[in-house]
Amino acid sequence: MSERIYARIAGTGSYLPEKVLSNEELARTVETSDEWIRERTGITQRHIAADEQTTGDLAYEAALRALEAAGIGVDELDMIIVGTTTPDLIFPSTACLVQARLGAVGSAALDVNAACSGFLYALSVADKFIRCGDAKKVLVIGAETLTRIIDWSDRTTCVLFGDGAGAVVLVADGDTGILSTHLHADGSKKELLWTPAGVSSGFGEGVGSSGTIKMKGNDVFKYAVKALDSVVDEALQANGLGKADLDWLVPHQANLRIIEATAKRLDMSMEQVVVTVDKHGNTSSASVPLALDTAVRSGRIQRGQLLLLEAFGGGFTWGSALLRY
Ligand code: UT7
Repeated sequence: MSERIYARIAGTGSYLPEKVLSNEELARTVETSDEWIRERTGITQRHIAADEQTTGDLAYEAALRALEAAGIGVDELDMIIVGTTTPDLIFPSTACLVQARLGAVGSAALDVNAACSGFLYALSVADKFIRCGDAKKVLVIGAETLTRIIDWSDRTTCVLFGDGAGAVVLVADGDTGILSTHLHADGSKKELLWTPAGVSSGFGEGVGSSGTIKMKGNDVFKYAVKALDSVVDEALQANGLGKADLDWLVPHQANLRIIEATAKRLDMSMEQVVVTVDKHGNTSSASVPLALDTAVRSGRIQRGQLLLLEAFGGGFTWGSALLRY
């Protein structure tokens, strides 16, 4: 009888660009206020990539830190997966660009685009490769320069997003690691959160334009709360675990009110929830690994603890990962 192989997080890393944009600074350029942004979202500031910094640059820095924390050399990697909606180029993938800079030539490399759920989708793909025995060491990154696709005159979106990257190194382990991942999507809701432009679509802001984010925030909010309620229930049920078994919730950082609603659903105190939205804003694919790394490095998340990761984003896409850290 074969024993189950788990994908265990061997190390985490993250990177935030130096430049910080506060709510007060934003309120000087668009009709908003620090009070409105804090009350409705929990955000106080966000990081903005320098003009010459790309998603791949942020991803590379986060990757270096995760590899160092894991004690794993680049030549050991079987695969690199980057969750991103803001790739450096149409192709090659950001994962290929990061692979070249790391010097991990030969490993498989691919991007996953699932908007803000990108990291969880990427983590799930990596988990499957490890569980089936086709990979032993996988670098999974969530990285974004979302502020490149923001309309800075639209107060309903420009106050929300930030740039950054987070990464984990997964290794095959006979004892413990990721217990399950669950992924979902509802493509029929695309126009509630999207960039109506692209390479092969001749509408919106036009072919070849990367466009800017459009969002019907309130509709997204309501759908997100329901979807996240159901995906966290699904994760616990699939593993025969209860709410009280969880040590930490590591949620997507879009809005503090959404995070609080999910914590309430799980009967978890906010002390057991990793919150970084105040300092990072919504960094899309990067938000979950950034939050995870922040809590690991501050010593709050400890080895052996049970973590529930979740995310919701454009598509719509949403998902969870339940893991023993
Ligand atoms: O990460 C991917 C998933 N994304 C999300 O999960 C985001 C989900 N949505 C949200 O987080 C929230 O819906 C927002 C933070 C985007 C908006 O909060 P809300 O409580 O849903 O506000 P709202 O859109 O219903 O707008 C309320 C009012 C409106 O004014 P009126 O029509 O009541 O006069 C808006 O025009 O607030 C106004 N408003 C603003 N006022 C000051 C919208 N944005 C701003 C702003 N500053 N930045």
